[in-house]
Amino acid sequence: MALRTRLTQRLGIEHPVLCAPMGFVTGGKLAAAVTAAGGLGLIGGGYGDAEWLEREFAAAGNGRVGCGFITWSLATQPHLLKQTLVHAPAAVMLSFGAPEPFAAAIKASGTCLICQVQTMAHARAAVASGADIIVAQGSEAGGHGQTRTTFTLVPEIADYLTKAAPETVLVAAGGVADGRGLAAALMLGAEGVLVGSRFMMSEEALVPAGLHEAVARASGDATVRTTVLDVVRKLEWPPEHTGRALRNRFVDTWHGREGELGTADTVVREFERYTRARDAGDMDNTGIFIGEAAGLLNDVRPAGDIVRDMVAEAGQILTNRREPAR
Ligand SMILES: Cc1cc2nc3c(=O)[nH]c(=O)nc-3n(C[C@H](O)[C@H](O)[C@H](O)COP(=O)(O)O)c2cc1C
Repeated sequence: MALRTRLTQRLGIEHPVLCAPMGFVTGGKLAAAVTAAGGLGLIGGGYGDAEWLEREFAAAGNGRVGCGFITWSLATQPHLLKQTLVHAPAAVMLSFGAPEPFAAAIKASGTCLICQVQTMAHARAAVASGADIIVAQGSEAGGHGQTRTTFTLVPEIADYLTKAAPETVLVAAGGVADGRGLAAALMLGAEGVLVGSRFMMSEEALVPAGLHEAVARASGDATVRTTVLDVVRKLEWPPEHTGRALRNRFVDTWHGREGELGTADTVVREFERYTRARDAGDMDNTGIFIGEAAGLLNDVRPAGDIVRDMVAEAGQILTNRREPAR
């Protein structure tokens, strides 16, 4: 079963499924596995770490992969973009901040520019920057984002692109974990999906011990948008962005008490506990970014199987829809 769309055409891939560049979670092995299965994997450059990036591009082997950055953080070490472009990535994705300072260099290198957006204003800025692909990210998504939901953001941006930038390809992100999500995204006007949480529950994801078990136990009710994990790590995110994370003892203790957490002594003490808990596999006392799709994720599977099953299920749903049962 093949689901050919303008996304598969634009990227020269078989299936309209992208693995999200989850910072330090999507390493070269996961990205390459998604590409090998017919989608496209994007290495999670995150806040930017030159050595980590080199290691993960090497881990991708000969796999054709892309790379994503947190834009406001890339602005503090812009040389990382040049370092990345040397690897001739299939695409560079920018999220969370103005794409404009980096767009020209990416496009001039012949690399596909993907911008992940959370609002209509972001979508307009992405078009103005020359984005080839726009990822509309709804608030169901794991990790950082804003408040618009996938179900309305995707068709609104689809309508806007039809009029303003018909060549720009639209991808949906946030809450897509199986073939139902992929089929729904296509129905909403997207040409494919960018998936994070489901691939976090893959064998190839770079995650601490105990994380997979904690997510498998969680329902979709158990996540919250919060700044607690940024405050404890002393990351200065623009205030309009919060991160969707699993509610656990750490988050429940500090959510709503961020001011207190951020005070000098407390943040030092709590950051130490937070990292120690992560290293010890104590998932109740550290941070886990995950989307509302947590409630759909019960098993850990090879990333390639996730891609193949998602596409097969979506194909079946879409075929049945076109041919109603007699
Ligand atoms: C653990 C985790 C880390 C993430 N890190 C990043 C990141 O560094 N950069 C980025 O652009 N998006 C990041 N995201 C968001 C994804 O790009 C994507 O929007 C999201 O995973 C889609 O929703 P889903 O999790 O429901 O699939 C992250 C998501 C998760 C779950």
